[in-house]
Amino acid sequence: MDKELMNLAVRSLVWPVCLVGATQNEKHNIMTVAWITQISADPLQLIISIDKSRYTHNMISETGEFVVSILGSEQKEIAVVCGSRSGRNVDKVKQLKIETIPSTVVKVPQLAGCLANMECKVAAQYPAGNRTLFVGEVVAADIDKENLKPMIMYRGKYIE
Ligand SMILES: Cc1cc2nc3c(=O)[nH]c(=O)nc-3n(C[C@H](O)[C@H](O)[C@H](O)COP(=O)(O)O)c2cc1C
Repeated sequence: MDKELMNLAVRSLVWPVCLVGATQNEKHNIMTVAWITQISADPLQLIISIDKSRYTHNMISETGEFVVSILGSEQKEIAVVCGSRSGRNVDKVKQLKIETIPSTVVKVPQLAGCLANMECKVAAQYPAGNRTLFVGEVVAADIDKENLKPMIMYRGKYIE
């Protein structure tokens, strides 16, 4: 079996490039997440796959809440920085000067300038190798009605 080819085939699934935020002890952190999809319409639920080594993983496990913010096609720098640095060492929100907006239900703030913000409460979690699949129930949301161009990733490359 050609593993590289199999990887490329799986990476031909179009990935939406998002940020997942969590807040613990007043500290807000965001990370880039592309392994995310809707899994149910009623209740409205999505799933994110988070490596156990991520700082955000601990924050979500311990608080049971997160916010998903969908990035627009112009926001590559945010995706790159939030996908390569850890909140253990750097305040990514401050460094990138991202404006935050209080959420309505969860303690994690929303991010201004994104296509959509979804406030989620963890409804279930499942182990998957070195990852955890967090099922998030969407309890509130907001969208940008003007910007309709999401950032996506195809075969490992950003499509802007
Ligand atoms: C485009 C892109 C997509 C990513 N998708 C995921 C993902 O779905 N799950 C994951 O665990 N890590 C993903 N990562 C890696 C994390 O974003 C990265 O390790 C981040 O620095 C973790 O931050 P934290 O330690 O502050 O939580 C992705 C990175 C990039 C650049």
